Amino acid sequence: MKTPSHDLIVFGATSFVGQILTRYLAEQFGAHGHLKWAIAGRSEAKLAALRNSLGLAAGKLPVVVADAADEVALRQMCQDTRVVISTVGPYALYGEPLVKACAETGTDYCDLTGEVQWIRRMIRAYEPAARKSGARIVHCCGFDSIPSDLGVHFLQQRSRERFGEPCTEVKMRVKAARGGFSGGTAASLINVVKEAATNPALRKELANPYSICPEGYAPQVRQPNLKSAQYDADFDAWVAPFVMSGINTRIVQRSNALSKQAYGKDFRYDEAMLMGRGLKGRVAATGLTAGLAGFMLAGALPPTRWALERFVLPAPGEGPSAEVQRKGFFDLRFLGRTTDGRTLRVKVTGDRDPGYGSTARMLGQAGACLVLDLPESGRKGGFWTPATLFGDRLIERLVAHSGLTFEVLED
Ligand SMILES: NC(=O)c1ccc[n+]([C@@H]2O[C@H](COP(=O)([O-])OP(=O)(O)OC[C@H]3O[C@@H](n4cnc5c(N)ncnc54)[C@H](OP(=O)(O)O)[C@@H]3O)[C@@H](O)[C@H]2O)c1
Repeated sequence: MKTPSHDLIVFGATSFVGQILTRYLAEQFGAHGHLKWAIAGRSEAKLAALRNSLGLAAGKLPVVVADAADEVALRQMCQDTRVVISTVGPYALYGEPLVKACAETGTDYCDLTGEVQWIRRMIRAYEPAARKSGARIVHCCGFDSIPSDLGVHFLQQRSRERFGEPCTEVKMRVKAARGGFSGGTAASLINVVKEAATNPALRKELANPYSICPEGYAPQVRQPNLKSAQYDADFDAWVAPFVMSGINTRIVQRSNALSKQAYGKDFRYDEAMLMGRGLKGRVAATGLTAGLAGFMLAGALPPTRWALERFVLPAPGEGPSAEVQRKGFFDLRFLGRTTDGRTLRVKVTGDRDPGYGSTARMLGQAGACLVLDLPESGRKGGFWTPATLFGDRLIERLVAHSGLTFEVLED
């Protein structure tokens, strides 16, 4: 078999998040450095403009042209690289042919999808091919769900060191975050709400905390599911539902399932936003809960969905400014509790806006981890999660190169 020309290809390099990612890869690895990477997408002209904007001459950074629906071009692209990073979304609309090509050609893959229903479909359809070919497929390599998945992994390791056992219950609370929305994320979110509005089976699937766990995996544990404003005594604060919990909790449960229940067979996990103390906290939590419910309802009904897309949400290709990304950050708190009530607190932070500045760096380092840290000789193909495939290696990369921190908080 011929040696691939590239280590890594960014497919969708001209997307809003893809442009931030390519700039980051250029800073981190240069062109033609120890990581040989290329940019790909459907428009040669846009790709050339992107390469020029990075200050790289033609020939310095290879360009690959492929449409997300062109299976032949995607297969050729996969056969010429070890790893593909994809930012072409909504993935439920455009992503399947590339996952199929990677699974069948043994090409490693990571992306930014947060679309549970699509991930489930991909696992069911292509896990056998990925196992056979050795392709390692890792969805959710951005803000959803790396901080959650690696945050729990980190906490459970400290728990085993300190208490000799994992925590049966873990809560993640968003203490603070600042950033903005992009058109691609808005389109992906609206697409899920739209599909769910007309499909009761999908609504049931989205409500199942184990929906992307291997078939037949169904622990008899009731997972917490925050739907309204509540007081959380562990954090002495009011909490409101967190919009990303629908994907993050599923990824964390899949990590537990894939690791032979390393977090325990009774493991419970939930996520929420910290809204403050007293009456002010209660009002804020109630207001956010109502706002979220209103958004979901507006997204489900055709006339209000049209108005949201037309007047409120950013269009595809748009997103937060460089200044908003630079001034953005996130601060997540985890509380773990063992069966006999011992507790451990962990903090995970990022120094850029969660959705773009930090997400692009996380995705870039996930791709680099596949190329540089996980030798193909040790490969076991299949659909992984960030914690089960990358684990500590990615934490080290994120701390060293992506502005993330992972630390235990002493009481
Ligand atoms: N998990 C997270 O934390 C996170 C954070 C941010 C974004 N995301 C997700 O990442 C994805 C990208 O977001 P974004 O805001 O960067 O999106 P965007 O700016 O709208 O970009 C979408 C990309 O898809 C490409 N594309 C569309 N149709 C295509 C086709 N037929 N063939 C090839 N390429 C095609 C577009 O190409 P052109 O440039 O040629 O138009 C563009 O590069 C979304 O699904 C979003 O939900 C996730």
